[in-house]
Amino acid sequence: MNFELTEEQKSVKKVVRKFVDKEIIPYIQEWDRQGAFQPSILKRLSELELMGVCIPEEYGGLGMDYNTLAIICEELERGDTAYRTAVSVHTGLNTMTLLQWGTEQQKQTYLVPQAKGLKIGAFGLTEPNAGSDVAAMQTTAKREGDYYVLNGSKTWISLCDYADHFLVFAKTDHDLGSKGITAFIVERTFEGFESKAIKGKLGIRAGNTGEIFFNDVKVPAANRLGEEGEGFKIAMSALDNGRFTVAAGAVGLLEASFEASLKYCHERSTFGKEIGKHQLVQQMIAKMSANLEIARLLVYKAGTLKNEGKRNTKETSLAKWIACNAANEAANDAVQIHGAYGYSDEYPVERYLRNSKAPVIYEGTREIHTVMQGEYALGYREDKPLRKQLPSWPFEKVTVH
Ligand code: CAA
Repeated sequence: MNFELTEEQKSVKKVVRKFVDKEIIPYIQEWDRQGAFQPSILKRLSELELMGVCIPEEYGGLGMDYNTLAIICEELERGDTAYRTAVSVHTGLNTMTLLQWGTEQQKQTYLVPQAKGLKIGAFGLTEPNAGSDVAAMQTTAKREGDYYVLNGSKTWISLCDYADHFLVFAKTDHDLGSKGITAFIVERTFEGFESKAIKGKLGIRAGNTGEIFFNDVKVPAANRLGEEGEGFKIAMSALDNGRFTVAAGAVGLLEASFEASLKYCHERSTFGKEIGKHQLVQQMIAKMSANLEIARLLVYKAGTLKNEGKRNTKETSLAKWIACNAANEAANDAVQIHGAYGYSDEYPVERYLRNSKAPVIYEGTREIHTVMQGEYALGYREDKPLRKQLPSWPFEKVTVH
């Protein structure tokens, strides 16, 4: 067991922190006010080779370990949740899923350009009537010769207006419930595909989120990911990676709330002393400090299991649940510590609080993760080996099995 970051991880952390401090933090308040997503930041993330960091070099990535992805997400969300979300959907939910489940042809066509950041990937699972209950989805895919024809819609899709490729889940057999779902790679340019952003969100206002629509979209059969009926498992395994990045991002948000609160505690005085000297403020600070440590350790444990090529659904769910709750609580306390100033966007903490809410809802609500952990503890749920696992790291020693 080693709790130190490697030299390579330290240097990636430094690069991302510098980028965030220089190119995101000075502008984010205005972008957030305007609700303006910046595609130029996506381009910069690609230029910095941060979009495929844990994809093997043979597929266009940097070949680094899964915890390096966590470190990137932490540092990005220290700046804002919007750009961590972009990496989560592109790398965690889409690109890593292609690595895990794709055929060699799909990897060459879609994974390689995504790992290089030349094309952007997104994820289409949630529907207006199917969020936690994935099997309730209504989007259909009907086989017609060498194609599947997709009809339906998805909602709350991050990067809906900017992604080139979407990993989409649709019912190929309505009577089979979760076993009737199939996964497809859909290109934005396919006829009958449309997207529309959602306005008026509580948080992540600098992000792009919306709906995507399929109106008789013809998807080549070669773009089916996995077997017919395997879509639920593919979606769940994608979420094992997406949730990992969300948890890591929450660590960054927690750290941002903690840093802002520490600074303010030393700046502000009441009753003749720094507010940090008041015990009830110290209580909030102590909780943030402890939760930061707890959340980070849980994330790195899940990442270490990924590096070892082991199934990590339970540990990832735990990390996501605990880290996102803790980040939400820390942001709320950070606003409290800042008093009335925390209620205005003169300080960043009100944005942290608004941004911290979505991760408690998306990629498995707090309630879904609570139930999963209860079921694991009681022996009602167990993680079985998968037909296809993410490759363990270092990649050159062990390939996909
Ligand atoms: N990887 C691979 N396979 C998995 C898996 C995983 N992580 N988890 C489950 N499976 C397999 C199981 O092994 C099982 O296979 P068999 O039938 O062969 O035994 C099969 O899938 C069914 O599994 P479960 O019995 O566990 O399924 P369930 O119905 O009990 O699942 C649930 C319940 C855990 C609540 C699950 O439905 C769930 O996680 N729901 C939340 C979904 C979610 O996160 N939605 C949000 C999605 S997207 C998003 O948030 C993005 C966005 O909007 C921005």
